[in-house]
Amino acid sequence: MSASADIPLTVMDHRDPQLLGELMSAIEDVAVTGAFIGGAVVEEFEGEYADWCEVSHAVGVSSGTEALALALRALDIGPGDEVVVPANSFIATAEAVSLLGARPRFADVEEDTQLVSAATIEPALTPAVRCVIPVHLFGRTVEMAPIMQLASERGLRVVEDAAQAHGARYRGRMVGTIGDAGTFSFYPAKNLGAWGDGGALVTNRAEIAERVRLLRSHGESPRYHHRMVGTTGRLDALQAAVLRLKLRRLEEWNEDRRKLAEELRAALSSSAVAPPVAPALGCDHVYHQFVVRTPRRDALRDFLARKGIVTGIHYPIPIHRSDAYRALEQDRDVAPRASRLAGEIVSLPMFPGMAPEQIERIGDAVSQFSGEAARVPVLARS
Ligand SMILES: Cc1ncc(COP(=O)(O)O)c(C=O)c1O
Repeated sequence: MSASADIPLTVMDHRDPQLLGELMSAIEDVAVTGAFIGGAVVEEFEGEYADWCEVSHAVGVSSGTEALALALRALDIGPGDEVVVPANSFIATAEAVSLLGARPRFADVEEDTQLVSAATIEPALTPAVRCVIPVHLFGRTVEMAPIMQLASERGLRVVEDAAQAHGARYRGRMVGTIGDAGTFSFYPAKNLGAWGDGGALVTNRAEIAERVRLLRSHGESPRYHHRMVGTTGRLDALQAAVLRLKLRRLEEWNEDRRKLAEELRAALSSSAVAPPVAPALGCDHVYHQFVVRTPRRDALRDFLARKGIVTGIHYPIPIHRSDAYRALEQDRDVAPRASRLAGEIVSLPMFPGMAPEQIERIGDAVSQFSGEAARVPVLARS
């Protein structure tokens, strides 16, 4: 990549010719067998992913959204039930609840981590809430112990949405393995990404794994004997082949993200932009996104775009204020902190293999922006 080329928000596999070659050959190996649905490759990936997550069961499914919906179904969540979800997450966390005819209750997030906590979940609890879904957003682990304590006191189930946090640990345990079940997305841009849609559910509870295995494939066992109403929710063999190969490099990629995050943090230290707070003791961060804050967010994005630095916003509209969910809350702002943060956050480029010159360019550009911002007269700033 030349010094002046745009710095993307993330990079996909086609930018790495060696990895691309290995993946093409893994795809070919599946194609020549003709086994596209289920089969050995899917089972091997499931076994390897379970081992990697240090959990008893991993079930491959068709997406992270499906993983959430099937986890909730396996826990018998349905119409009349309520499930607490963070106001700041990808909308899928709430959609999975709605898809089952249950109602999401939105919890606000902590100012510093931008994640839910026991303290922000508690006010969202109603007598109908049966489950909570903490989301390890951006790759940062939620402080789970007080949430597990709250759940046990109130008789609630816990499904961890780890779609953005493959391989992050909480007090030594892999995320996804702390609650009743954990769900992952393998959307291509994730820390572990497929070449299309894919997801997985992990659990130490055999009965949940067993139900999700049935549900993901029409409740079928054995062939054409349908024990329950299920769906087409399987992980396909081509995706499993891609994921198996990439899983071997995931720890190295996550380690690189952690290292790059520290370098970026240092590069921003003299700027007016707030880097992500350092992870608390026992709470890992695998930096799926590197999210900074500034009240002049849109101006910063424009400035960086002019310098060829691509940024993103995760997410510009909190779920409870989206068109899809606004009516549910009757326009009441049940998560004011998430609403305010949505106007200040911006995700900077973050991907394994980011070059030192790219970090330097980002740091210089943000510092320059901060210097120019400081010279803008206060009256003209609003
Ligand atoms: C936090 C979170 N939950 C759930 C999902 C849904 O995953 P998928 O896109 O694989 O359905 C995503 C995907 O972006 C996500 O980021």
